[in-house]
Amino acid sequence: MSNRIVHVGRVSSTQDVAREVNPPKLGTVIVAEVQENGRGRYGHVWLSPRGGLYASILLRREQLLSLRVGVAVARALQELEIDARLKWPNDVLVHEKKIAGILIETSGEIAIVGIGVNVDSVPLPEATCVERETEWSITRDELLYSILRKIETPCGEDIIKTYRELCCTIGRKVRIITAAGKEVMGNALGIDRDGHLLVLNGKNKHMIVGGDCVHLDAGD
Ligand code: BTN
Repeated sequence: MSNRIVHVGRVSSTQDVAREVNPPKLGTVIVAEVQENGRGRYGHVWLSPRGGLYASILLRREQLLSLRVGVAVARALQELEIDARLKWPNDVLVHEKKIAGILIETSGEIAIVGIGVNVDSVPLPEATCVERETEWSITRDELLYSILRKIETPCGEDIIKTYRELCCTIGRKVRIITAAGKEVMGNALGIDRDGHLLVLNGKNKHMIVGGDCVHLDAGD
């Protein structure tokens, strides 16, 4: 799929600009310099000062899209020798500090895939940024193109297998607030073929379809 990239200046959120694209041509990408009301998953704010990468892409809705995009962002950062890993489902972390986030909203059969990457500054103490984690220099556009290329999964790639390799949640003690608002704590056993997180709490095994995940232990 070819991309049509539209650069905008200061916007409320690229998600809102992308939603207004008419007709909603697949592959359209909205990239902003600054977002005044950048948003994250589950009502979180995404601080969006100048210098970060803020993009929303129109893609076809499909299963595993959220994991596929997470893999693409993590791989693009790994090419810069950044040790990027995925906290389920698609927070991109470097040594437990957040470097990028992904928000997927829908409009009919279209997914509005929002990607935010901290490039040259760290909006929160518990975050990190590209410039801090690598010696390589890369422009925001180059990083965006690298991510876009990787979102196109090579034919036959087993995305779940790749995702499991990049996922730093497996094997950890976790607390999840599910999409329905329920809290689940336990040990993250793995990811099933549908991308769901499997959590063991005592003798109870939970299959989590969507939610906000916190790692409760330090990991290896
Ligand atoms: C998260 O980690 O909770 C997801 C963050 C997603 C942020 C991006 S920045 C581009 C797009 N526009 C938004 O308002 N949010 C997404």
